[in-house]
Amino acid sequence: MSNDLFSIRMRASAGGVHLSGAERIVSREELDPVAAELRSRAMSKNREPDSIVITMEPLKDASFLELQALPVTTASCAQMADARREIFCRLETTGVSPQSAEKAVELLDTGPASPGRSMRGAVIMTAFSGRRLEPDQKRGIRVSRFDWKKECLPDIDAFFAASGLTHFRTREALALATKVAHAPGVIAELCWSDDPDYTAGYVASRLFGYIRFENLKTPGSASGGRVFFVDENRFDLEKCSVYLERQPVLIYL
Ligand code: COA
Ligand code: AMP
Repeated sequence: MSNDLFSIRMRASAGGVHLSGAERIVSREELDPVAAELRSRAMSKNREPDSIVITMEPLKDASFLELQALPVTTASCAQMADARREIFCRLETTGVSPQSAEKAVELLDTGPASPGRSMRGAVIMTAFSGRRLEPDQKRGIRVSRFDWKKECLPDIDAFFAASGLTHFRTREALALATKVAHAPGVIAELCWSDDPDYTAGYVASRLFGYIRFENLKTPGSASGGRVFFVDENRFDLEKCSVYLERQPVLIYL
């Protein structure tokens, strides 16, 4: 059935270095105000962008998937070592082997693109043997075309305010993680940001939801990224990539 929704995406860079990106799925009437919001978001970084690209793509013939957001819990681990131990335990319950979990953590610590470098997207790693499957290890796979359902925005704002999680990153990360958790063949995700000022991260899966940790890395560290663990026995890279990159998904609480 035809609709009047658009994917609107912003990416900003300076001197060829990516600074920020965000996206929404909105109606035609919302395009102008949301474009202005995304533009001011691009301008609000410490560094002035020399390029801001805003893309508006009609989704009129697309079939949408609606997904319920993963339940959120915040782990109370005071030390980074405790947080790391907890993510290993959680990943193991989903079928990720200790070797794969260790390899993923080491990659995010050292930079999964090449030592010290972040990727432009996520690592795809086999859950048992820890093999990397993404065709380009600098780029990875980038999740796109997802947003909260418009009717849920007041609820989601209230939910995060009540949990004391008011940073826009958490809201966006939960939406992204929900899309990823339902990807064909994906069993779990591990993420922490490469932003040196942001040490929080999460593990997510359909089994236990989205578990947020305050301190998955040392403050000041510029390493981070995302790893999607996949079940090598039922994994089709092409099918999974098309879902992650192209399938429009709307999320509700
Ligand atoms: N890091 C580095 N470079 C990036 C990037 C990122 N995160 N995202 C985009 N780029 C650059 C790359 O050079 C990319 O080329 P590539 O495909 O060879 O890597 C180029 O921009 C075009 O990327 P593309 O994804 O086609 O652009 P887009 O305008 O369609 O979408 C984003 C850009 C950033 C909105 C989208 O990729 C995205 O990440 N959406 C999710 C945003 C979000 O909610 N994140 C939550 C994190 S908590
Ligand atoms: P961020 O949460 O924006 O700090 O991003 C942390 C890391 O996640 C980046 O360094 C990328 O490796 C990866 N990443 C960023 N955007 C995406 C995306 N849309 N899909 C998958 N991985 C991403």
